[in-house]
Amino acid sequence: MMIERLIAELDSADAVPAEWRNAFLAVPRHVFLPARVWMDDEQGRPQPLSREEDPERWLRAVYRNAPVLIQFDDGTTRWPDTHGEVCTSSASKPDLVLSMLAALDVHDGHTVLEIGTGTGYTAALLAARLGAPNIITIEIDSGLATSARATLDASGLPVTVLTGHGAQGHPSKAPYDRVISTAAGRVDELPYSWVAQTRVGGVIVTPMRTDFGGSVALVRFTVDKDGLATGRVVGRIGFMALRGQRTPEWTLAHLDPDDPPPSAPPPPSNLGASPKTTMSDGPLAHAYPAASGNTNQPPTDRKHHLLWLLDPTNGS
Ligand SMILES: C[S@@+](CC[C@H](N)C(=O)[O-])C[C@H]1O[C@@H](n2cnc3c(N)ncnc32)[C@H](O)[C@@H]1O
Repeated sequence: MMIERLIAELDSADAVPAEWRNAFLAVPRHVFLPARVWMDDEQGRPQPLSREEDPERWLRAVYRNAPVLIQFDDGTTRWPDTHGEVCTSSASKPDLVLSMLAALDVHDGHTVLEIGTGTGYTAALLAARLGAPNIITIEIDSGLATSARATLDASGLPVTVLTGHGAQGHPSKAPYDRVISTAAGRVDELPYSWVAQTRVGGVIVTPMRTDFGGSVALVRFTVDKDGLATGRVVGRIGFMALRGQRTPEWTLAHLDPDDPPPSAPPPPSNLGASPKTTMSDGPLAHAYPAASGNTNQPPTDRKHHLLWLLDPTNGS
């Protein structure tokens, strides 16, 4: 009943691709979620929620079209602490999962490599659609991998769950028809192993981020016979970074005023017409994908202000 209610909500936004309806109905989301989670409140602040303490609210919450947060700060911030800095694992928002799966364009018999197992829910949907033997999923956090493996097995969907760094892929079972990452790679660091391990004509769907502006693009690539992946942005989303590709925080306070930092190569000459696009996801963000923007003086008028671009990866 809860799945049907969620499907009705998603249907009203036309968010359930026909080819995913049966798999979506076959996989109960609550089975994959831990008993203790956090959900964002209306102000976007994470609030703890426990199945033992309030089973009805927990169940209603996990069947909302919302992300369910299951880990902060790589597990160092423990439930129910709400002071975690970064959410490092979640069950993604159902409409986002479905849009990524639709972009993946799977067909019967396809093999899929997923990066970022998390709860195992996306892997379960893939297994319900294509069969568990056709799915391999990699999770960097061993605790999450163990728990997802157990849930998938208990659900009769014995997907291969590997613990490891997804950026390396899993060469021994390559080539895959499809690769999907549910953690965002930085624009300048898309792991080439994913391209090398996808068959010619195969598809890679991945969120890609720049630090500057914090924008994440969902990108769909097709791999050609020369080992080149080309594609387009198919959506704008919020997504956590691949572990191993997180950029450290860096602000003006890190700069020594007596020791001028090395300067970066000059920006591209044509920065585009729209300042908003230029700032967050335009050419400037792509030229300096690890840079963060810092403004250290209030605007003197409403037209101009000084923007510092700081690149923690090279100190410029
Ligand atoms: C948004 S969550 C995944 C959602 C998941 N597909 C689901 O259905 O629950 C992203 C996951 O990617 C994992 N991750 C981050 N960096 C990774 C890496 N380098 N290799 C493998 N997994 C990684 C995180 O630990 C986290 O569990």
